[in-house]
Amino acid sequence: MSDTLLTKLDSGVLTLTFNRPEKKNAFTHAMYEAATRALKDAEGNVDVRAVLLTGAGNVFTAGNDIGDFMEHPPAGEDSAVFRFLRALVDADKPVLAAVDGPAVGIGTTMLLHCDYVVASERARFHMPFVQLGLCAEGASSLLIPRTAGFALASELLLFGEPFDAATALRAGIINKVVPDASLQQVATERATTLASRPAEAVRVTKRLVREPLRAQIRETLAREGGEFIQRLQSAEAQEAFMSFMSRGRK
Ligand code: COA
Repeated sequence: MSDTLLTKLDSGVLTLTFNRPEKKNAFTHAMYEAATRALKDAEGNVDVRAVLLTGAGNVFTAGNDIGDFMEHPPAGEDSAVFRFLRALVDADKPVLAAVDGPAVGIGTTMLLHCDYVVASERARFHMPFVQLGLCAEGASSLLIPRTAGFALASELLLFGEPFDAATALRAGIINKVVPDASLQQVATERATTLASRPAEAVRVTKRLVREPLRAQIRETLAREGGEFIQRLQSAEAQEAFMSFMSRGRK
């Protein structure tokens, strides 16, 4: 456990809480490493029957910590962010997410690899990759056209504007929208229910649902990752990041 990623195991549910509320739970290199380790440990721990991702302070996550990203840009497939995404894609145990407040960048794309996502009415989703001079990541270029159709996928990825929970539901990114106050209770109930189902039947069924696309997802992660790394070095991205750091948001 680290301070910025809290872990709690209860009734077979391992809850991973992104815990950097003063920075809107923006992901640092250390958080990616801790989350990857927690997901891998969960696979080998018979007491864990389901994993629930959530964020502290009524925020899911603001995505990559931009300052940390500028200091430690991902340089290849072995970078912390890509290892985290692969751990999520490869997870055999069910992964759920409870989304409150902003879910930006990887905060939205990680949901594509979860098995059940519940969001509060005030949840806001955002894939601002183009505004940041970057490109689609997290296999979103493969999966969002499948779940949302080309029209909505292109709108969400190219314009990169924030969207609400109803749109996320329509785009097939989440399963359910609930009143803000009941988010944690509904998410915990869903996770506990899944954790109480026969473990092997859950594992085999998840694999049957996910396996046909896994190879393509891994290939897309690698392809997007290559483009993303190049884009990070572009003048467009450097300018957008400097602008964020100097608080002049785009
Ligand atoms: N990286 C680094 N710091 C971040 C961050 C990020 N992705 N997102 C938020 N923060 C920091 C802010 O700089 C601010 O720090 P400060 O108090 O030291 O100035 C603090 O978190 C609070 O953020 P603020 O913007 O004041 O909160 P808000 O409620 O007005 O807005 C967000 C929340 C998430 C909508 C907004 O912060 C945002 O859009 N962040 C950028 C998200 C982004 O572009 N992510 C990268 C995707 S690749």
